[in-house]
Amino acid sequence: MTDTDALDQEARSAAAAFQSRGLTADQATLQLIFTQARTHYGWQDRDVSEETLRALYDIAKMGPTSMNQQPMRVIFVRSDVAKDRLEPALFDANRPKMRSAPVTAIIAYDLNFWEELPHVFPPNPGAQDIFKNNATAAQVNAFRNGTLQGAYFMLAARAVGLDVGGMSGFDNGKVDEEFFHGTSLKSNFLVNLGYADTSKIFRRLPRLDFDTVCETI
Ligand SMILES: Cc1cc2nc3c(=O)[nH]c(=O)nc-3n(C[C@H](O)[C@H](O)[C@H](O)COP(=O)(O)O)c2cc1C
Repeated sequence: MTDTDALDQEARSAAAAFQSRGLTADQATLQLIFTQARTHYGWQDRDVSEETLRALYDIAKMGPTSMNQQPMRVIFVRSDVAKDRLEPALFDANRPKMRSAPVTAIIAYDLNFWEELPHVFPPNPGAQDIFKNNATAAQVNAFRNGTLQGAYFMLAARAVGLDVGGMSGFDNGKVDEEFFHGTSLKSNFLVNLGYADTSKIFRRLPRLDFDTVCETI
C-alpha cells in the first residue's frame, strides 16, 4: 500500500466514525448562523481581535470548492488610512456602514488561483493546464469558487460570534485599481465585521419558499 492509499484509508475510517455520530446542528447554532442572524449596518465601538479573524478564516477555509481551488483572497481593512483608500469606491449610503465597522473585509478572488493547484490538488498533476492558457475557464472558476468561499466566510464570521454586513454597492473597478493594481486579484464584495449596533437594522424581508424555488424530478 502506498502512502496516499494509507492516507485515503485513514480518511475513510475517520469519515465513517464521524458519520456514525449522526450529528445535526442544534437550534442555537442554526439561529446563530441562519435563522436569527441578521445583516447589520451599524456597529458598536468594540474592536475585533486578530485572533478572531484568524479563527474565522480557519473555519471558512474548510468549505468545499471545485478541485479544492480556494481562489478567495481577503484584505482586512482596519486602519483609518486603509479605510480612507476604500471609501471613495463606495456608494454614498454604504460609506458610514463601512466607516463605523471595526473591520471591513474585501473579498477578492485570484485569477491565478491555479498556481496553487499542485499544492492543493495533487491528485491531478495536470490540473494547472486547464486554466493556465484559458482565461475564461480561470475567470469562471475563480468567480464561482471565490463567491462560494465568500459565503462560507460570512457564515464562519457568525460562527465565531461576529456580526456581518455584506456590501456590493461599490465600484469594483475603483477597488481593483486602489488595492489590486498590477496583480491577478479582483474584488468581489465587501463584508463589514464587528459587533452590531442592533438599532440600525430593518425589518426582515421575505425569503422565497420551497415550492417557488425547488423542484424534484
Ligand atoms: C453580497 C451582498 C451584498 C450586499 N450589498 C449591500 C449593499 O451594498 N448595501 C446594503 O445596505 N446592503 C447590502 N447587502 C445586504 C442585503 O440586502 C441583506 O443581506 C439582505 O437583505 C438580507 O438581510 P437579513 O440578513 O437581515 O435578512 C448585501 C448583502 C450581501 C450578502
